Amino acid sequence: MSIDLAKVDAIVAKKGKGPQMAIPVLQLVQEEFRYIPLEAIERIAETTEMTESQLYGVATFYAQFRLTPVGEKIVKVCHGTACHVGGAEGITEAMESRLGVKNGENTPDMRYTLSSVACVGCCSLAPVVMVENKTFGKLDRKKAAEIIDTLEKKSEDRGASSHE
Ligand code: FES
Repeated sequence: MSIDLAKVDAIVAKKGKGPQMAIPVLQLVQEEFRYIPLEAIERIAETTEMTESQLYGVATFYAQFRLTPVGEKIVKVCHGTACHVGGAEGITEAMESRLGVKNGENTPDMRYTLSSVACVGCCSLAPVVMVENKTFGKLDRKKAAEIIDTLEKKSEDRGASSHE
């Protein structure tokens, strides 16, 4: 997948070329592309004082950075202790069959990424799913699949209203 390198250049122009800027530059690259493409790392290395290995090292060291593309929405199924006890496995299975992907994968249209995460901090609502900043709690398999139905309906409605 090729990316618009002009966007990478603009980020470097804004943040600076010194090695101390690796984190802020990579943060903006991820904001722009939703992950850190290898082409972006190569371009930054070509045009700044940072090397590919420094950039790659930072990108793999910090959990906030992603080196593979993700969907528009990340469906995070909590697998912390309370959610695990509350049936997180079943919630992941329900999401897998609703989205047609395995845990950790993106849907082919890149609308969703299914991901297991550690405790998201609302154990009293276990089992829990988070999508963007919204928390859905006390789920069962059926309710979990309905989250996606609701998100799909919302985006259809938005599509319909934008064509009015
Ligand atoms: S274990 Fe899932 S919210 Fe804490």
